[in-house]
Amino acid sequence: MLSSTLFAWFFASSVGAYWLPEDPNSGLQKTCVIPKSNGDDSPGIMSAVAACGSNSQVVFSSGVTYNLDTPLQFSNLNNVEFVFNGNLSLPDNVTAVEAVVQNTHVYPGHWITVSSSTGVTFTGSKDSSGGWFIGHGDLWWPNVNDSDNDYRPHFFSFKVTSLRLRGVKILKPVAWVFSLGGEDVYMTDTVLDARSDDGFAFNTVLDGIDCSASNVVIDGWTSWNGDDVINVAPPAVNVTMRNVVAYGTHGISVSCSSGSGGDYLFENTIIYNSLIGARFKGVLGTTCNMYNITWRNFVIVNVSYPIHFIENYVDQEVGPPPNANLSLAAYASGFTWENIVGATSPSLEDGSCISDPCWSYTTGQSPEKALYVLCKDADHCKDFQFVNLNLAGADGKPGQMDCTGLEGVTGMGLTCTNGTVVMT
Ligand SMILES: *[C@@H]1O[C@H](CO)[C@@H](O)[C@H](O)[C@H]1NC(C)=O
Ligand SMILES: *[C@@H]1O[C@H](CO)[C@@H](O)[C@H](O)[C@H]1NC(C)=O
Ligand SMILES: *[C@@H]1O[C@H](CO)[C@@H](O)[C@H](O)[C@H]1NC(C)=O
Ligand SMILES: *[C@@H]1O[C@H](CO)[C@@H](O)[C@H](O)[C@H]1NC(C)=O
Ligand SMILES: *[C@@H]1O[C@H](CO)[C@@H](O)[C@H](O)[C@H]1NC(C)=O
Ligand SMILES: *[C@@H]1O[C@H](CO)[C@@H](O)[C@H](O)[C@H]1NC(C)=O
Ligand SMILES: *[C@@H]1O[C@H](CO)[C@@H](O)[C@H](O)[C@H]1NC(C)=O
Ligand SMILES: *[C@@H]1O[C@H](CO)[C@@H](O)[C@H](O)[C@H]1NC(C)=O
Repeated sequence: MLSSTLFAWFFASSVGAYWLPEDPNSGLQKTCVIPKSNGDDSPGIMSAVAACGSNSQVVFSSGVTYNLDTPLQFSNLNNVEFVFNGNLSLPDNVTAVEAVVQNTHVYPGHWITVSSSTGVTFTGSKDSSGGWFIGHGDLWWPNVNDSDNDYRPHFFSFKVTSLRLRGVKILKPVAWVFSLGGEDVYMTDTVLDARSDDGFAFNTVLDGIDCSASNVVIDGWTSWNGDDVINVAPPAVNVTMRNVVAYGTHGISVSCSSGSGGDYLFENTIIYNSLIGARFKGVLGTTCNMYNITWRNFVIVNVSYPIHFIENYVDQEVGPPPNANLSLAAYASGFTWENIVGATSPSLEDGSCISDPCWSYTTGQSPEKALYVLCKDADHCKDFQFVNLNLAGADGKPGQMDCTGLEGVTGMGLTCTNGTVVMT
């Protein structure tokens, strides 16, 4: 049973915005309005930003749609705020976008790139008729094998020290949305809407955020996508994400295949109608060190795998690593799952299952299992804590768990069994 108190608490805390005291752009000396052209607006945008210079604000006018027919690339910005009152749109022409993505002289890996910069703010519009980044992904998603299309554009790449993304709104991105590097990042009140109008499963849209940045706070996030809300991976350190509402996701995820990272906190989250909720994936045949990671205050509704921890992950688009050394696995320590209320989905698949068995197939799986903890052994999974889990299976009975590697370990808050989850 879902706790109505927890729901009430969440909704009470989720109304309104999450503005934080996080403005790096003090002392802006000048405001420049971005011109609108009759064709590709990208060259004009880049020259206007360059001409406006450091310590400035550049404004995209409301009521205007700027056409980004070619990618935007900015580097060496210093104390610049972009104010998006108008819309910015990729071409509504799949062939044209594919041609750009294939052209390595024009496309650096993302449609919008900000690198080697300090003090950059993107400010969205609170007006629903402006400030949208429009991808026209709905023209791509129904194509057979879209998920194999290497010419899908990635949307944003940021490698900035002191980045602020406020109220950024993305509509129908083709695929991957944010790649976050750099440090000192606050991202607030983001909306990622990859719903399709024709009911086609949004199963080829990729991660909301891929985060390798450090000292990050992501506060206020609503999404409909078809892959991870976020995937945090080394070398990221000190990442907090909170106040999340997500639909159709593959999880609030941490992954690793090398290096180390930790001090991650994911809290105050509701996940509906999804494949995976709180997720860790160590890549098969690799090793890495992850520490101090907490998922807490989650409500998980109709989700195939509410809590999922594995150390043998294989990306179906990439395949297993060649000559995988199966004696290697991630080292995880200080992982906590706390105050998680949830119920599973009767289905163990979503639209991303294009193989049999599905890429997400997990040994021992069943719709009655709500918690999967599949460790190589106790040496690889240390100091795990399960606190106040309240999980139900799709049959309405108390949720079961699927556990390996931690048999006989005490003091975790539950016992590693393949039976009902009982807090100890
Ligand atoms: C901007 O995009 C939004 C979302 O598609 C749309 O509702 C709005 O009409 C657009 N504004 C303009 C000026 O085209
Ligand atoms: C789409 O782009 C391609 C390649 O640039 C071009 O040949 C074609 O005419 C465009 N289609 C439309 C409808 O504009
Ligand atoms: C889609 O992919 C499958 C498996 O790779 C392949 O057999 C099939 O021919 C592809 N279909 C198209 C239309 O490219
Ligand atoms: C973690 O990151 C946040 C956001 O940048 C920052 O305010 C905080 O000081 C950082 N904490 C540590 C211990 O560095
Ligand atoms: C664990 O990570 C959280 C989130 O970054 C941080 O607040 C906390 O201080 C860390 N705990 C330790 C023991 O470092
Ligand atoms: C459960 O989620 C699936 C998508 O994962 C959706 O198709 C189904 O309608 C949802 N069921 C309910 C009762 O909302
Ligand atoms: C696999 O990894 C183990 C543990 O690090 C190591 O001892 C072994 O030599 C590796 N095997 C191969 C074939 O690399
Ligand atoms: C749970 O089942 C798996 C196979 O699905 C098995 O490997 C594991 O040892 C079992 N765990 C326990 C605690 O019995």
